[in-house]
Amino acid sequence: MSIAEDDVKVAALDNEVKVVCIACGREHPPKEANDACLNCGSLLEVRHPLEALRGTINRDWLEKRRQERKFPNGSGVWRWRELVAPIPDEALVSRNEGNTNLYEDGRLAKYVGLASGALWLKHEGENPTGSFKDRGMTVGVSHANWVGAKYVACASSGNTSSSLAGYAARVGLQALTFVPAGKVALGKLSQTFAYGAKTIQIDGSFDLALDLVRAVSKAAGVYLVNSINPFRLEGQKTIIFEALDQLDWQTPDWIVVPGGNLGNTSAFGKALYELRELGFIGPKLPRIATIQAEGSAPFYDYFRKGFKDFQAVPPETIATAIRIGNPVNLPKAQRALEWTDGIVESVTDTEIMEAKSQLDRSGIGGEPAAAATLAGIRKLTAAGVIQPGAGVIGILTGHILKDSDSIIEYHSNPNNPGANAPIKVKATLEDVLKVLGL
Ligand code: F0G
Repeated sequence: MSIAEDDVKVAALDNEVKVVCIACGREHPPKEANDACLNCGSLLEVRHPLEALRGTINRDWLEKRRQERKFPNGSGVWRWRELVAPIPDEALVSRNEGNTNLYEDGRLAKYVGLASGALWLKHEGENPTGSFKDRGMTVGVSHANWVGAKYVACASSGNTSSSLAGYAARVGLQALTFVPAGKVALGKLSQTFAYGAKTIQIDGSFDLALDLVRAVSKAAGVYLVNSINPFRLEGQKTIIFEALDQLDWQTPDWIVVPGGNLGNTSAFGKALYELRELGFIGPKLPRIATIQAEGSAPFYDYFRKGFKDFQAVPPETIATAIRIGNPVNLPKAQRALEWTDGIVESVTDTEIMEAKSQLDRSGIGGEPAAAATLAGIRKLTAAGVIQPGAGVIGILTGHILKDSDSIIEYHSNPNNPGANAPIKVKATLEDVLKVLGL
């Protein structure tokens, strides 16, 4: 079949994409802004007609798609649009997000206890606004644009708000962002208001900000783009599509990701499920390991208790991106771990910052939440949960420059391993040579 024939066949299936409640099964029209089931209030998800797509959406299709240069196929999200969302091209708001590097690094593999060549780091900090959020945001903001929203809103620990603000600015929508006062890294906070978002600082945690923005959204008909928005997670699935494509569909044993609101964990489970249904990968799925910061680890506690008796916690951690005590995607994340025989681990702030200094020194770099991935892999290999011979994809969720406050704090303490603070010296050749030991 030619590309055009394929496109016509696949486009017809857009009408069969459904937005469905994961608890009661009620269907909601895709061209409607709902952040919860209108019947029972549970989470919604986008369902694609996988059976009908099987046979058409395959590796040959992907090769042909790669050769099509027209908008929006350059995007690492919209390249997969049949598995993302049936939004018309005219409504799309895209900055060619995705297409991020998958790094191999022998030193970091050694640091975490894996064989050289067995660790791949997918750097989602290389997205346009510096975090993985852009993959979800291009879909959320495009959907908002399609349904005719005027205002788009989110609660955020800083990356969602930066991403929303950037994408909203591209299309001229007004962004409203709600952030916990004093608990957002300055790079993210300033990025958010620089892009033009109205930025409301809440005296309370991310969780409280999310409750509040949900109430605002309901009261004022404002479009919500937190990860309860089912369209956002469809974009985030493409992290896995792209990573496995980069590995030529050789699946690793583990996929390791930091967990806060658990959108990625949920999206990754769905991505793996769909790839198996479509025949891109074999029956055995990689296992997902979600890493939480010890002071913000309600999902870890819940996992340890066999998914019984969930308790929200008052969150604390230096990795402010994942300073979340009551993750909204809990049922979807639990399902993702059940599908993939996944696990949850927790790491201390000290482990996170030491892993971050290694990550940064490798030249790859990342913000503290991204380094939680590396700290988690290290802990899991030390415990023998991840076997030394295993292949692991680690997801780096945000860019090194997002949180320079934490870098300065770490390197200002000479007792920290690898501390490398700038040196102040009198501007004479003699003094400079002396300080450099030359
Ligand atoms: N890593 C980074 C850098 C993040 O910004 C976030 C979430 C996570 C990991 C956790 O991802 O929620 O899918 O489990 N940041 C959100 C925000 C909450 O508002 O920027 P998750």
